[in-house]
Amino acid sequence: MDQEKELFGGPDTESIAEQALGEAEQAADSRALYEVKMKFLGRMGIVIALMKKMREIAPEERPAFGKRVNALRARLEQAFDKMEARIRAREMAARLAREQLDVTMPGRHGRAGALHPVTRVKNQLIDIFSGMGFEIYEGPEIESDYYNFTALNTPDDHPARDMQDTFYITDHILLRTQTSAGQIRVMEQKKPPIKILSPGRVFRSDDDATHSPMFHQMEGLVVDRGITLCDLKGMLDEFARTMFSATSKTRLRPSYFPFTEPSVEVDVSCASCGGKGCSLCKGTGWIEVLGAGMVNRRVLENCGIDPDVYTGFAFGMGIERIAMLKYGINNIKLLTENDTRFLEQFRD
Ligand code: PHE
Repeated sequence: MDQEKELFGGPDTESIAEQALGEAEQAADSRALYEVKMKFLGRMGIVIALMKKMREIAPEERPAFGKRVNALRARLEQAFDKMEARIRAREMAARLAREQLDVTMPGRHGRAGALHPVTRVKNQLIDIFSGMGFEIYEGPEIESDYYNFTALNTPDDHPARDMQDTFYITDHILLRTQTSAGQIRVMEQKKPPIKILSPGRVFRSDDDATHSPMFHQMEGLVVDRGITLCDLKGMLDEFARTMFSATSKTRLRPSYFPFTEPSVEVDVSCASCGGKGCSLCKGTGWIEVLGAGMVNRRVLENCGIDPDVYTGFAFGMGIERIAMLKYGINNIKLLTENDTRFLEQFRD
């Protein structure tokens, strides 16, 4: 080796190789190894510097010198390549271990909300009736007694005002007791043909397992030439089949409302027992779901519609009641307590 130094007047390639491999061995990662590699084999590196020295050497010594430097370069390249492969494999293994994914792990669920059963039934009713061509009208919740009673053929002191325990705000302003108030507002503004559906909150001073001081109704009103009770029955049958079950039937029983004549109470065959009689329908096979009737002539007149030309029917149902029947809910209070354990059960 000393001989070599003497020969070429530079460091011997063997010690350069040892130094390079020693430093490379110390490299902790591929980045450090790269730096060592550049130090020896890079464009400004030690090996290139050796090559540049060629010029200073006597021509006859150049081939031997060049051979040694090339051998050094080849040896280092090979060694670095091997080390690099080893380090990279190690790094890759570490990365894979670090980024390991358990694809069998159950995902984290976002807590999705669910529609309230009253909203669900309301939306279903809107779907059913808008499919038959009904438009939505929403009236005010604070009404005058004119719209809520008087125009609906229930004048002051009429005993039928007692059918609905009313929250009065002043002598003539009240919380509407029925969405029927909207019938008048619609008929005042629009002339036949009329086909509207009016969902909304109503208020009555009434409170037990099946009554709540605030509840929702869905009103329907159809006025045109030649409308009969058969049209009402046909639409209600369709409603019952879609809302309850494909085999549901309806029946009309005579009843009384001041604003319809004749008036009917509409029963739907009990979906729970199929009409045979059970505890839900109290053994009758039928469940009362709504009030309806042919719009009273007086009501049409009150709204400037000629009852000799036009007839109509109206119906009004309690949305909570439909929801309770449909989902088997036994206490109306469950619908206003906002207990998520109850509400979560109504998911699609
Ligand atoms: N408004 C009535 C009630 O609340 C229901 C009804 C609506 C009856 C329309 C007949 C026609 O009880």
